[in-house]
Amino acid sequence: MCGIVGYVGNENASGPVLNGLATLEYRGYDSAGLATIEPGLDHLGIYKAAGKLVNLRQVVDDAQPQGTTAIGHTRWATHGDPTTVNAHPHTTADQRLAVVHNGIIENHLEVAAMLREEHGITPVSDTDTEIIAHLIGTLYTGDLKEAVRQATQVLTGQYAIGVIHRDHPDTIVAAVNGAPMVIGTTDDVAVLCSDVAGLLPYTRHITAVPDGHMAMLTPGHMEIFDQDGAPATGHTYEVDWTAEEAEKGGYPSFMAKEIAEQPRAVRDTMTGRWDGTQVHIDEVSFDLSRLKTFDKIIIVACGTSHHAGLVARRAFEHWTRLSTEVEIASEFRYRDPIVNKATLVVAISQSGETADTIAAMQYAQDQGATTLGVTNMVGSTLARGADSVIITRAGREVAVASTKAFTTQIVALMVAALWIGQARGNLYVEEIQAVFDDLQSLPDAMETVLAQDAYIGSLATALVNRLTSQHGYVMFFGRLNGLPIALEGALKLKEISYLHAEGFASGEMKHGPIALIEPGVTVIAIATEGAVKTKVMSNIEQVKGRGAHVIAIVTEGDDDVRALADDVIVVPAAMELASPILAVIPVQMLALHVANALDRDVDQPRNLAKTVTVE
Ligand code: F6R
Repeated sequence: MCGIVGYVGNENASGPVLNGLATLEYRGYDSAGLATIEPGLDHLGIYKAAGKLVNLRQVVDDAQPQGTTAIGHTRWATHGDPTTVNAHPHTTADQRLAVVHNGIIENHLEVAAMLREEHGITPVSDTDTEIIAHLIGTLYTGDLKEAVRQATQVLTGQYAIGVIHRDHPDTIVAAVNGAPMVIGTTDDVAVLCSDVAGLLPYTRHITAVPDGHMAMLTPGHMEIFDQDGAPATGHTYEVDWTAEEAEKGGYPSFMAKEIAEQPRAVRDTMTGRWDGTQVHIDEVSFDLSRLKTFDKIIIVACGTSHHAGLVARRAFEHWTRLSTEVEIASEFRYRDPIVNKATLVVAISQSGETADTIAAMQYAQDQGATTLGVTNMVGSTLARGADSVIITRAGREVAVASTKAFTTQIVALMVAALWIGQARGNLYVEEIQAVFDDLQSLPDAMETVLAQDAYIGSLATALVNRLTSQHGYVMFFGRLNGLPIALEGALKLKEISYLHAEGFASGEMKHGPIALIEPGVTVIAIATEGAVKTKVMSNIEQVKGRGAHVIAIVTEGDDDVRALADDVIVVPAAMELASPILAVIPVQMLALHVANALDRDVDQPRNLAKTVTVE
């Protein structure tokens, strides 16, 4: 997360950099900042503000910087609170060198210790980025590119950085490792940005800086270097997007983009959670010994977040050995639930602002319970109010239908379950390591599901063609891990296509819902490998026997379900507790294709809002 912009050219650079940052606000907006090389000053101009970009605009308007070289940043906090002091750019103590950074420096504690011992440097912020500035500062002997190159040999982790120095008024040096950075030039300007959208006012000819490479920008020029400092080439391409399309990264809708972003989002959510001996979450404001005193866990959430809670229940019970209930937040506090100081209440909300979820969390706190918030929004009411927080790093979710928030919530909840299980002494380090090893393989597995887009599109077209005025509905079923995915698939389909869709526990079909089956009705069966696959197969046979058209989601290598179903969508094998993270992607994609086929507004479906701040 976070967005960076750099401009070197012939006009006042602060305007173009602020405009570039505006296109990146979706990457984070808890603080922003700008550094310029100011004529006549022996240090850089540094301007920062907590909160949204509008606050930084005010600071810059008041200061009226004049420099024609600047770097800027919009932040989504990972290390340290979203305060002004933690806002980028970060500088050396003499403020002659400044850095903006997107990513995470994994060895920042180690580098900070070295800087303290060998150079007596004490950072002023809580960020990993400030360490980069000091490190480059200690390596600088007059050649900025070489100092940055040497610093990249020391730093580990994922990053894209932009660096300026007072002694090099027309230069930005950049370095990339596992985070995006694109560059564009005109005759007298060079611009870098985390995203193509920021370059479109200048050019549609884009150069992406390859991983492990550096770039040097001067007015109208850019050069790429490899890690030895030798000249190299970037990946160049042309885009013909409008600004809005650029924000969508070339996808036809935000929902399509957000579905496709899930491998990256899941990877980011896992990053830094396990150091080989200890599970980490973001913030805890109580004594960890309290984790041993709980006798029950209650998960509260609404909509898709509630479904993530249903998926995670098994992980919580398995790893914490505590009884775990999952409640719809809007129901919770009205039934006088048994909650006390031995209860841990986990509140899940993408926005962190859902009124019912906040109220449920506050109710639990009033009863003496400890709360853990799981949210995508740093600084949200949920993040500020909970006793401990784990942030999902999905990035801004614009489409009303939640997709990448769901998969990242499951990952975050699994991390939370491991954290509690470890604190309670239920898990050996080797067991936790094995889970993280499995989780690491998910992003690649997710890519193989996403690659079936055209095929899933063809299933959606056929599904739409099967609808009739008599049965204009779709049924989803599954058991155990498959049930929350059936519920989620039905929710996705109904909210963006306006078709009636319901999710059922497949064992319940014969207790009523099977009456809805007649020839031609589509049933989506979640039939991935696991303890209940053969039971789901019986349920498939029962609806097939009554004329249903069954689309089954199956695990790679499965031939049993394939022999029963009309169509199958194959997902890679995964550890059973995490398999819903893969099984949900086909139902998201199917819903999107059906809604597109019906010409719906998939990003802003009728009657809905992204954040539900009323009861
Ligand atoms: C469905 C959807 C909603 C949200 C629900 C909770 O696609 O997006 O059901 O999941 O409104 O929102 P958050 O997670 O922000 O509390």
